[in-house]
Amino acid sequence: MNIDELRNRIESEITSLKTFEDVKKVKASLLGRKGLFSEYLDGLKLLDRDEKKIFGKEINLLKMHAESRLKELESFYLEEEKRKKEALDKIDITMPGKIPLLGKKHPITQTLEEIIRIFTSLGFSVAEGPDIEQEYYNFEALNIPKDHPARDMQDTFYIKSDIVLRTHTSPVQIRTMESQLPPVKIIAPGSVYRCDNDISHTPMFHQVEGLMVDKRVRFSDLKGILSIFIREIFGENTPLRFRPSYFPFTEPSAEVDIGCVICEGDGCRVCKETGWLEILGSGMVHPQVLRIVGYDPEEVSGFAFGMGVERIAMLKFGIDDIRQFYYNDIRFLSQF
Ligand code: DAH
Repeated sequence: MNIDELRNRIESEITSLKTFEDVKKVKASLLGRKGLFSEYLDGLKLLDRDEKKIFGKEINLLKMHAESRLKELESFYLEEEKRKKEALDKIDITMPGKIPLLGKKHPITQTLEEIIRIFTSLGFSVAEGPDIEQEYYNFEALNIPKDHPARDMQDTFYIKSDIVLRTHTSPVQIRTMESQLPPVKIIAPGSVYRCDNDISHTPMFHQVEGLMVDKRVRFSDLKGILSIFIREIFGENTPLRFRPSYFPFTEPSAEVDIGCVICEGDGCRVCKETGWLEILGSGMVHPQVLRIVGYDPEEVSGFAFGMGVERIAMLKFGIDDIRQFYYNDIRFLSQF
């Protein structure tokens, strides 16, 4: 019987241990019922009495030694695993926090909401109409007959021969007046569509229409309301002027200019050296439009206006290409 061999095997098995699992395996292979020690103890049967005594003692000493080494290692690795698990569970309060990416409203939505806020504070309510509109509401009822040159001003998307994508929010004027009696005091925000696409035009853009009809509504009311609006949105000291113009649905008509927000009136590329920027169209509702919706122009009068939201946003934020709003580039959009 070779006790040295037994000792060497025990030593090499125990020193190669690395984990708690290893300890369990080696424990079974050495001390288990069919383990190495059992094998050796069985082997004692073949020896005579004296040899049995000597080898038996040696084997039992080795066994005790192996048992206590394995027990030590077992608790060492158990402790180590516990420590590792605790380290994983532990919260490191010095780690930088995760900053969630916060969404924002699109600059056009922001501008629209600001316009709506200003007009609702002046007593206007919000009206809406369909984007897909009857030609009648988009043109005829607004005093723009077929063959009228003003139809060419608005490159129209036709869905069918008498159905269009509305080219402006003005049809909401007609729908509102058809459905209620004066007094009317509404704004109509929404998308509009024109077959146009360049640095200052996108096929879809937004307008806000305004309409006020009542007894004795005068041009001075229009001037007052729009002056308040412009000062609210562009700042207290923004110069503005009303310039005679033409729209088929208003008489008289006026375009409103503000002092150029870029050069402050000195003249630059944006204002085409005039010092002024055109920002909206307006006028007194044409008697013919009032008649079409069944109002009596002798009884009531009104003003209307229409503005492009993208144009206002461009001037407010200093953006020179309208298409930026619709590229959906997060680097652009996250600036607002
Ligand atoms: N509808 C006109 C356009 O899209 C804008 C406009 C001008 C609306 C004058 C009005 C107005 O209500 O009175 O070009």
